[in-house]
Amino acid sequence: MQDFADRWGFGPDKFWLRGERKKEIVEFDEAHGVWHLYGHPESSEVLLDTEHFTPDGTKLFEVDEETAKYFDGDLAQMNGPEHVHLRKQVIRVFNPRFMDRLERRIVELCDECIGGLGGRDRFDLLRDFVDDLAGIVFAELLGIPADDRAMFRMVDVNMDQTAMMTTVEGEDYFQKLTVPLQPLRDMIGEHVDERARNPREDLISLLCQVRKLNGDPMTRDQIINFIIGILGAGHLATPLLIGNTMLCLDSFPEQYERVRADRSLVPTMLDETMRFLTPGNATYRATLADVEVAGRKIPKDQMIRVEIGPANRDPRAFADPDAYDLSRNPNPHLGFGRGAHYCIGAQMIRVETRIVFDLLMDRFPVLHVDPEIPPVYFESPDFTGVKSVTVRTR
Ligand code: HEM
Repeated sequence: MQDFADRWGFGPDKFWLRGERKKEIVEFDEAHGVWHLYGHPESSEVLLDTEHFTPDGTKLFEVDEETAKYFDGDLAQMNGPEHVHLRKQVIRVFNPRFMDRLERRIVELCDECIGGLGGRDRFDLLRDFVDDLAGIVFAELLGIPADDRAMFRMVDVNMDQTAMMTTVEGEDYFQKLTVPLQPLRDMIGEHVDERARNPREDLISLLCQVRKLNGDPMTRDQIINFIIGILGAGHLATPLLIGNTMLCLDSFPEQYERVRADRSLVPTMLDETMRFLTPGNATYRATLADVEVAGRKIPKDQMIRVEIGPANRDPRAFADPDAYDLSRNPNPHLGFGRGAHYCIGAQMIRVETRIVFDLLMDRFPVLHVDPEIPPVYFESPDFTGVKSVTVRTR
Protein backbone atom coordinates (compact mmCIF):
# COMPACT_ATOMS: atom_id res chain seq x y z
CA MET A 1 0.00 0.00 0.00
CA GLN A 2 1.22 3.52 -0.78
CA ASP A 3 2.71 5.27 2.20
CA PHE A 4 0.08 7.35 4.03
CA ALA A 5 2.09 10.61 4.07
CA ASP A 6 3.09 10.30 0.39
CA ARG A 7 -0.39 9.50 -0.69
CA TRP A 8 -1.82 12.60 0.96
CA GLY A 9 1.16 14.83 0.19
CA PHE A 10 2.27 15.67 3.75
CA GLY A 11 5.69 17.35 3.65
CA PRO A 12 8.90 16.44 5.51
CA ASP A 13 8.01 18.82 8.36
CA LYS A 14 5.33 16.28 9.38
CA PHE A 15 7.99 13.56 9.59
CA TRP A 16 6.12 11.43 12.17
CA LEU A 17 3.41 10.77 9.60
CA ARG A 18 6.05 8.81 7.64
CA GLY A 19 6.86 6.64 10.65
CA GLU A 20 10.11 8.57 11.17
CA ARG A 21 11.38 9.23 14.70
CA LYS A 22 13.91 11.70 16.06
CA LYS A 23 17.10 10.22 17.51
CA GLU A 24 16.95 12.47 20.55
CA ILE A 25 13.87 12.93 22.72
CA VAL A 26 14.88 16.53 23.41
CA GLU A 27 16.36 18.74 20.70
CA PHE A 28 17.42 22.36 21.07
CA ASP A 29 16.83 24.61 18.08
CA GLU A 30 19.53 27.26 18.50
CA ALA A 31 18.29 29.46 15.67
CA HIS A 32 14.95 30.04 17.37
CA GLY A 33 15.82 29.27 20.98
CA VAL A 34 13.14 26.58 21.27
CA TRP A 35 13.43 23.13 22.89
CA HIS A 36 11.53 20.39 21.06
CA LEU A 37 10.21 17.49 23.10
CA TYR A 38 9.25 14.36 21.14
CA GLY A 39 8.62 11.52 23.61
CA HIS A 40 5.25 10.45 25.00
CA PRO A 41 6.18 9.81 28.66
CA GLU A 42 8.26 12.99 28.80
CA SER A 43 5.56 15.12 27.14
CA SER A 44 2.99 13.74 29.58
CA GLU A 45 5.29 14.57 32.45
CA VAL A 46 5.77 18.17 31.28
CA LEU A 47 2.04 18.70 30.65
CA LEU A 48 1.21 17.31 34.09
CA ASP A 49 3.74 19.47 35.91
CA THR A 50 2.32 22.97 36.45
CA GLU A 51 4.91 23.77 39.10
CA HIS A 52 7.85 23.85 36.68
CA PHE A 53 6.10 24.58 33.37
CA THR A 54 3.53 27.19 32.36
CA PRO A 55 1.60 27.64 29.13
CA ASP A 56 1.92 31.41 29.54
CA GLY A 57 4.27 32.20 26.65
CA THR A 58 3.99 35.98 27.09
CA LYS A 59 6.46 35.83 29.97
CA LEU A 60 9.27 34.91 27.56
CA PHE A 61 8.94 37.91 25.28
CA GLU A 62 9.08 41.60 25.87
CA VAL A 63 5.40 42.07 25.25
CA ASP A 64 4.22 45.65 25.75
CA GLU A 65 1.32 46.34 28.06
CA GLU A 66 -1.07 46.98 25.20
CA THR A 67 -0.37 43.57 23.57
CA ALA A 68 -0.40 41.74 26.92
CA LYS A 69 -4.02 42.86 27.37
CA TYR A 70 -4.99 40.54 24.52
CA PHE A 71 -4.02 37.44 26.52
CA ASP A 72 -5.32 38.23 29.99
CA GLY A 73 -8.21 35.82 30.67
CA ASP A 74 -7.28 33.15 28.10
CA LEU A 75 -7.67 29.96 30.14
CA ALA A 76 -5.15 28.03 28.07
CA GLN A 77 -2.40 30.54 28.95
CA MET A 78 -3.11 30.75 32.68
CA ASN A 79 -1.40 28.82 35.42
CA GLY A 80 -1.66 28.22 39.17
CA PRO A 81 -4.64 28.73 41.51
CA GLU A 82 -6.38 31.36 39.32
CA HIS A 83 -6.38 28.86 36.44
CA VAL A 84 -7.75 26.02 38.60
CA HIS A 85 -10.44 28.32 40.02
CA LEU A 86 -11.59 29.71 36.65
CA ARG A 87 -11.50 26.31 34.94
CA LYS A 88 -13.70 24.75 37.63
CA GLN A 89 -16.35 27.39 37.09
CA VAL A 90 -16.24 27.43 33.31
CA ILE A 91 -16.52 23.67 32.96
CA ARG A 92 -20.00 23.95 34.50
CA VAL A 93 -21.32 25.08 31.11
CA PHE A 94 -20.96 21.50 29.87
CA ASN A 95 -23.47 20.20 32.44
CA PRO A 96 -25.62 17.15 31.56
CA ARG A 97 -28.68 19.28 30.68
CA PHE A 98 -26.64 21.47 28.34
CA MET A 99 -24.91 18.48 26.75
CA ASP A 100 -28.22 16.73 26.26
CA ARG A 101 -29.71 19.78 24.53
CA LEU A 102 -26.58 20.24 22.46
CA GLU A 103 -26.62 16.63 21.35
CA ARG A 104 -30.22 16.88 20.13
CA ARG A 105 -29.44 20.14 18.36
CA ILE A 106 -26.37 18.65 16.65
CA VAL A 107 -28.45 15.76 15.31
CA GLU A 108 -31.00 18.27 13.95
CA LEU A 109 -28.31 20.47 12.40
CA CYS A 110 -26.50 17.49 10.87
CA ASP A 111 -29.75 16.35 9.32
CA GLU A 112 -30.35 19.80 7.86
CA CYS A 113 -26.79 20.18 6.56
CA ILE A 114 -26.75 16.72 4.97
CA GLY A 115 -30.25 17.31 3.56
CA GLY A 116 -28.89 20.50 1.99
CA LEU A 117 -26.41 18.43 0.00
CA GLY A 118 -29.31 16.94 -1.98
CA GLY A 119 -28.46 14.02 -4.22
CA ARG A 120 -24.97 15.27 -5.10
CA ASP A 121 -22.49 12.53 -5.83
CA ARG A 122 -19.53 14.74 -4.96
CA PHE A 123 -19.16 17.42 -2.29
CA ASP A 124 -16.56 19.06 -0.06
CA LEU A 125 -16.97 17.36 3.29
CA LEU A 126 -15.68 20.40 5.17
CA ARG A 127 -16.68 23.46 3.16
CA ASP A 128 -20.12 22.17 2.17
CA PHE A 129 -21.01 20.55 5.46
CA VAL A 130 -18.78 20.39 8.54
CA ASP A 131 -17.54 24.01 8.61
CA ASP A 132 -21.11 25.24 8.77
CA LEU A 133 -22.11 22.70 11.36
CA ALA A 134 -19.08 23.38 13.59
CA GLY A 135 -19.68 27.15 13.27
CA ILE A 136 -23.34 26.88 14.28
CA VAL A 137 -22.59 24.53 17.19
CA PHE A 138 -19.91 26.89 18.44
CA ALA A 139 -22.20 29.90 18.05
CA GLU A 140 -24.80 28.04 20.15
CA LEU A 141 -22.25 27.22 22.83
CA LEU A 142 -21.37 30.91 23.06
CA GLY A 143 -25.00 31.99 22.72
CA ILE A 144 -24.59 34.22 19.66
CA PRO A 145 -26.74 34.24 16.51
CA ALA A 146 -25.63 31.66 13.94
CA ASP A 147 -25.23 34.41 11.32
CA ASP A 148 -22.41 36.00 13.30
CA ARG A 149 -20.36 32.82 12.90
CA ALA A 150 -18.95 34.10 9.60
CA MET A 151 -16.62 36.20 11.78
CA PHE A 152 -15.07 33.03 13.24
CA ARG A 153 -13.36 32.46 9.91
CA MET A 154 -11.05 35.35 10.75
CA VAL A 155 -9.48 33.16 13.42
CA ASP A 156 -9.01 30.27 10.99
CA VAL A 157 -7.46 32.48 8.33
CA ASN A 158 -5.25 34.12 10.92
CA MET A 159 -3.99 30.81 12.27
CA ASP A 160 -3.46 29.40 8.82
CA GLN A 161 -1.29 32.30 7.77
CA THR A 162 0.57 33.07 10.93
CA ALA A 163 3.97 31.51 11.22
CA MET A 164 4.27 30.33 14.78
CA MET A 165 6.79 31.03 17.49
CA THR A 166 9.39 28.85 15.86
CA THR A 167 9.68 31.19 12.91
CA VAL A 168 8.84 34.69 14.08
CA GLU A 169 10.32 36.89 16.76
CA GLY A 170 8.09 37.10 19.79
CA GLU A 171 6.65 40.57 19.48
CA ASP A 172 5.91 40.31 15.77
CA TYR A 173 4.19 37.07 16.45
CA PHE A 174 1.86 38.59 19.02
CA GLN A 175 1.10 41.59 16.81
CA LYS A 176 0.29 39.38 13.85
CA LEU A 177 -1.91 37.20 15.98
CA THR A 178 -3.91 39.93 17.65
CA VAL A 179 -4.34 43.00 15.45
CA PRO A 180 -6.36 41.47 12.56
CA LEU A 181 -8.87 40.10 15.04
CA GLN A 182 -10.15 43.50 16.22
CA PRO A 183 -13.49 43.34 14.32
CA LEU A 184 -14.14 39.90 15.82
CA ARG A 185 -13.28 41.25 19.28
CA ASP A 186 -15.74 44.11 18.79
CA MET A 187 -18.50 41.72 17.76
CA ILE A 188 -17.92 39.45 20.77
CA GLY A 189 -17.75 42.51 23.04
CA GLU A 190 -21.25 43.57 21.97
CA HIS A 191 -22.58 40.13 22.88
CA VAL A 192 -20.80 40.26 26.24
CA ASP A 193 -22.48 43.60 27.03
CA GLU A 194 -25.87 42.26 26.03
CA ARG A 195 -25.48 39.02 28.00
CA ALA A 196 -24.30 40.87 31.10
CA ARG A 197 -27.69 42.64 31.03
CA ASN A 198 -29.75 39.60 29.99
CA PRO A 199 -28.11 36.33 31.07
CA ARG A 200 -29.19 33.09 29.40
CA GLU A 201 -27.91 29.52 29.46
CA ASP A 202 -24.76 29.87 27.39
CA LEU A 203 -21.01 30.28 27.79
CA ILE A 204 -20.90 34.08 27.47
CA SER A 205 -23.59 34.45 30.17
CA LEU A 206 -21.67 32.05 32.41
CA LEU A 207 -18.44 34.01 31.90
CA CYS A 208 -20.28 37.21 32.87
CA GLN A 209 -21.25 35.58 36.17
CA VAL A 210 -17.90 33.98 37.00
CA ARG A 211 -15.98 35.39 39.96
CA LYS A 212 -12.19 35.42 40.08
CA LEU A 213 -10.28 34.32 43.19
CA ASN A 214 -10.41 37.86 44.58
CA GLY A 215 -14.19 37.89 44.16
CA ASP A 216 -14.19 40.32 41.21
CA PRO A 217 -16.04 39.51 37.99
CA MET A 218 -14.01 38.90 34.84
CA THR A 219 -13.46 42.11 32.91
CA ARG A 220 -15.01 42.59 29.47
CA ASP A 221 -11.54 42.18 27.89
CA GLN A 222 -10.84 38.99 29.84
CA ILE A 223 -14.10 37.45 28.62
CA ILE A 224 -13.30 38.43 25.02
CA ASN A 225 -9.80 36.93 25.37
CA PHE A 226 -11.22 33.72 26.80
CA ILE A 227 -13.52 33.34 23.80
CA ILE A 228 -10.87 34.20 21.22
CA GLY A 229 -8.68 31.64 22.99
CA ILE A 230 -11.14 28.79 22.46
CA LEU A 231 -12.13 29.80 18.94
CA GLY A 232 -8.88 28.53 17.44
CA ALA A 233 -9.02 25.09 18.98
CA GLY A 234 -12.76 24.75 19.15
CA HIS A 235 -13.78 26.02 15.77
CA LEU A 236 -10.82 25.09 13.62
CA ALA A 237 -9.83 21.76 15.13
CA THR A 238 -13.28 20.15 14.84
CA PRO A 239 -13.33 20.16 11.01
CA LEU A 240 -9.69 19.06 11.10
CA LEU A 241 -10.58 15.98 13.16
CA ILE A 242 -13.45 15.09 10.82
CA GLY A 243 -11.40 15.66 7.65
CA ASN A 244 -8.47 13.71 9.08
CA THR A 245 -10.72 10.79 9.98
CA MET A 246 -11.93 10.72 6.39
CA LEU A 247 -8.33 10.48 5.13
CA CYS A 248 -7.62 7.63 7.57
CA LEU A 249 -10.75 5.67 6.61
CA ASP A 250 -9.91 6.08 2.96
CA SER A 251 -6.37 4.82 3.52
CA PHE A 252 -7.32 1.86 5.71
CA PRO A 253 -10.35 0.27 4.02
CA GLU A 254 -10.39 -2.76 6.31
CA GLN A 255 -10.78 -0.46 9.33
CA TYR A 256 -13.45 1.49 7.45
CA GLU A 257 -15.37 -1.76 6.87
CA ARG A 258 -15.08 -2.64 10.54
CA VAL A 259 -16.58 0.61 11.75
CA ARG A 260 -19.34 0.52 9.15
CA ALA A 261 -20.25 -2.96 10.36
CA ASP A 262 -20.00 -2.05 14.05
CA ARG A 263 -20.93 1.54 14.90
CA SER A 264 -19.90 1.10 18.52
CA LEU A 265 -16.37 1.56 17.13
CA VAL A 266 -17.02 5.19 16.10
CA PRO A 267 -15.66 6.68 19.37
CA THR A 268 -12.59 4.41 19.16
CA MET A 269 -12.10 5.49 15.56
CA LEU A 270 -12.12 9.17 16.55
CA ASP A 271 -9.58 8.60 19.31
CA GLU A 272 -7.39 6.63 16.95
CA THR A 273 -7.49 9.56 14.49
CA MET A 274 -6.58 11.94 17.33
CA ARG A 275 -3.50 9.77 17.81
CA PHE A 276 -2.58 8.76 14.28
CA LEU A 277 -3.26 12.08 12.52
CA THR A 278 -3.31 14.46 15.49
CA PRO A 279 -5.02 17.76 14.53
CA GLY A 280 -3.16 19.95 17.05
CA ASN A 281 0.33 18.50 16.74
CA ALA A 282 2.15 20.85 19.14
CA THR A 283 1.65 22.96 22.22
CA TYR A 284 4.02 25.16 24.20
CA ARG A 285 5.33 25.49 27.72
CA ALA A 286 7.74 27.93 29.33
CA THR A 287 10.06 26.71 32.09
CA LEU A 288 9.48 28.31 35.50
CA ALA A 289 12.76 26.92 36.93
CA ASP A 290 15.87 25.03 35.83
CA VAL A 291 14.58 21.56 34.95
CA GLU A 292 15.79 18.25 33.62
CA VAL A 293 13.80 16.53 30.88
CA ALA A 294 14.87 13.19 29.41
CA GLY A 295 18.33 13.73 30.90
CA ARG A 296 18.77 17.21 29.34
CA LYS A 297 19.10 20.26 31.54
CA ILE A 298 16.81 23.07 30.42
CA PRO A 299 17.27 26.44 32.13
CA LYS A 300 14.53 28.65 33.56
CA ASP A 301 12.59 30.90 31.13
CA GLN A 302 12.99 28.70 28.09
CA MET A 303 10.35 27.76 25.55
CA ILE A 304 9.49 24.08 25.07
CA ARG A 305 7.50 22.93 22.07
CA VAL A 306 5.70 19.78 23.22
CA GLU A 307 5.46 17.73 20.03
CA ILE A 308 2.13 16.00 20.55
CA GLY A 309 1.99 14.51 17.03
CA PRO A 310 5.33 12.67 17.30
CA ALA A 311 4.61 11.72 20.94
CA ASN A 312 1.45 10.01 19.71
CA ARG A 313 3.65 7.76 17.55
CA ASP A 314 6.07 6.87 20.37
CA PRO A 315 6.60 3.07 20.38
CA ARG A 316 7.19 3.22 24.13
CA ALA A 317 3.54 4.22 24.57
CA PHE A 318 1.84 2.51 21.61
CA ALA A 319 2.37 -0.96 20.14
CA ASP A 320 2.76 -0.76 16.35
CA PRO A 321 2.37 3.04 16.46
CA ASP A 322 2.23 3.58 12.69
CA ALA A 323 -0.80 1.33 12.27
CA TYR A 324 -4.29 2.87 12.25
CA ASP A 325 -6.00 0.31 14.42
CA LEU A 326 -9.55 0.46 15.75
CA SER A 327 -8.74 -2.26 18.28
CA ARG A 328 -6.31 0.00 20.11
CA ASN A 329 -7.19 -0.09 23.77
CA PRO A 330 -6.10 1.73 25.82
CA ASN A 331 -5.24 4.71 23.66
CA PRO A 332 -3.53 7.27 25.90
CA HIS A 333 -2.99 9.81 23.08
CA LEU A 334 -2.15 13.40 23.96
CA GLY A 335 -4.36 14.90 21.25
CA PHE A 336 -6.47 16.74 23.86
CA GLY A 337 -3.49 17.41 26.13
CA ARG A 338 -3.11 16.00 29.62
CA GLY A 339 -3.51 17.12 33.22
CA ALA A 340 -4.51 20.57 34.41
CA HIS A 341 -4.94 21.99 30.90
CA TYR A 342 -6.74 18.98 29.38
CA CYS A 343 -9.11 20.24 26.69
CA ILE A 344 -12.40 21.39 28.19
CA GLY A 345 -14.10 20.90 24.81
CA ALA A 346 -13.10 17.23 24.41
CA GLN A 347 -16.48 15.89 25.53
CA MET A 348 -18.34 18.22 23.19
CA ILE A 349 -16.09 17.31 20.27
CA ARG A 350 -16.53 13.62 20.91
CA VAL A 351 -20.31 14.01 20.82
CA GLU A 352 -20.28 16.24 17.73
CA THR A 353 -17.91 14.10 15.66
CA ARG A 354 -19.63 10.85 16.67
CA ILE A 355 -22.97 12.17 15.43
CA VAL A 356 -21.41 13.41 12.18
CA PHE A 357 -19.88 10.03 11.31
CA ASP A 358 -22.91 8.04 12.38
CA LEU A 359 -25.07 10.15 10.13
CA LEU A 360 -22.65 10.16 7.21
CA MET A 361 -22.43 6.36 7.30
CA ASP A 362 -26.22 6.07 7.57
CA ARG A 363 -26.84 8.36 4.61
CA PHE A 364 -24.04 7.31 2.32
CA PRO A 365 -23.39 3.59 1.90
CA VAL A 366 -20.39 4.68 -0.18
CA LEU A 367 -18.28 7.64 0.86
CA HIS A 368 -14.68 8.02 -0.18
CA VAL A 369 -12.15 10.75 -0.94
CA ASP A 370 -12.36 11.94 -4.54
CA PRO A 371 -9.12 10.71 -6.18
CA GLU A 372 -9.30 13.51 -8.76
CA ILE A 373 -9.32 16.44 -6.33
CA PRO A 374 -6.43 16.62 -3.85
CA PRO A 375 -7.30 17.79 -0.34
CA VAL A 376 -6.13 21.26 0.74
CA TYR A 377 -4.17 21.44 4.00
CA PHE A 378 -3.75 23.94 6.80
CA GLU A 379 -0.33 25.50 6.57
CA SER A 380 0.29 26.17 10.24
CA PRO A 381 3.15 24.09 11.66
CA ASP A 382 1.09 23.54 14.81
CA PHE A 383 -1.93 22.02 13.09
CA THR A 384 -2.12 18.97 10.86
CA GLY A 385 -4.93 18.25 8.49
CA VAL A 386 -7.30 19.28 5.81
CA LYS A 387 -9.35 22.42 5.38
CA SER A 388 -10.97 21.08 2.22
CA VAL A 389 -11.56 17.47 1.16
CA THR A 390 -13.84 16.44 -1.68
CA VAL A 391 -15.69 13.17 -1.20
CA ARG A 392 -17.72 11.01 -3.58
CA THR A 393 -20.84 9.07 -2.79
CA ARG A 394 -20.58 6.66 -5.71
C1 HEM B 1 -10.82 18.39 17.82
C2 HEM B 1 -10.97 19.50 18.51
C3 HEM B 1 -10.01 19.96 19.57
C4 HEM B 1 -8.68 19.66 19.74
C5 HEM B 1 -7.78 18.79 18.87
C6 HEM B 1 -8.25 20.34 20.94
C7 HEM B 1 -6.99 20.23 21.48
C8 HEM B 1 -6.62 20.75 22.70
C9 HEM B 1 -5.34 20.53 23.35
C10 HEM B 1 -4.19 19.70 22.80
C11 HEM B 1 -5.35 21.20 24.53
C12 HEM B 1 -4.25 21.24 25.60
C13 HEM B 1 -3.31 22.37 25.31
C14 HEM B 1 -2.19 22.48 26.30
O1 HEM B 1 -2.12 21.73 27.28
O2 HEM B 1 -1.34 23.36 26.08
C15 HEM B 1 -6.62 21.88 24.62
C16 HEM B 1 -6.99 22.71 25.65
C17 HEM B 1 -8.12 23.47 25.62
N1 HEM B 1 -9.18 23.35 24.75
FE1 HEM B 1 -9.28 22.13 23.16
N2 HEM B 1 -9.30 21.05 21.45
C18 HEM B 1 -10.39 20.85 20.64
C19 HEM B 1 -11.65 21.37 20.82
C20 HEM B 1 -11.97 22.32 21.77
C21 HEM B 1 -13.27 22.93 21.92
C22 HEM B 1 -14.51 22.62 21.10
C23 HEM B 1 -13.15 23.84 22.94
C24 HEM B 1 -14.18 24.76 23.52
C25 HEM B 1 -15.40 24.49 23.72
C26 HEM B 1 -11.82 23.76 23.44
C27 HEM B 1 -11.33 24.51 24.48
C28 HEM B 1 -10.11 24.30 25.09
C29 HEM B 1 -9.63 25.06 26.24
C30 HEM B 1 -10.35 26.22 26.93
C31 HEM B 1 -8.39 24.54 26.57
C32 HEM B 1 -7.47 25.02 27.69
C33 HEM B 1 -7.91 24.35 28.97
C34 HEM B 1 -7.06 24.80 30.13
O3 HEM B 1 -6.01 25.39 29.91
O4 HEM B 1 -7.48 24.54 31.27
N3 HEM B 1 -11.13 22.83 22.71
N4 HEM B 1 -7.39 21.57 23.51
